Amino acid sequence: MTRIGPASELGPGSLTRSGRYAVGNNGNHFAVTRKCRHLGGDLDEGSIDADGCLVCPWHAAKYDVQTGRMVRGPQGIFAKIPGLGALFKSITRVVPLGRATVEVRDGDVHLVDGE
Ligand code: FES
Repeated sequence: MTRIGPASELGPGSLTRSGRYAVGNNGNHFAVTRKCRHLGGDLDEGSIDADGCLVCPWHAAKYDVQTGRMVRGPQGIFAKIPGLGALFKSITRVVPLGRATVEVRDGDVHLVDGE
């Protein structure tokens, strides 16, 4: 188990990193592997949108943090390439982001285990 920090510092909308994981709070604490499946953007530097999805800081692909799957493909110039978004969404159905269990104990957020 790895201590991340005080739960008070990881409130809704917050993201941080712990090793290979981006750890965040979209109303619930979550942890997914940090490297975007598109071109490796560091997801702990992204954001959490109104749907609770994790948005990549590089080209704004969106991930469902419960499943680790991309739910919107890369945006900007990449969105103009036919089939590219569907391709990456398909890839993450087979190879989703890794996920780890996060728990709050005694006011601290902990990473319990991971895939
Ligand atoms: S690297 Fe994440 S969307 Fe491009």
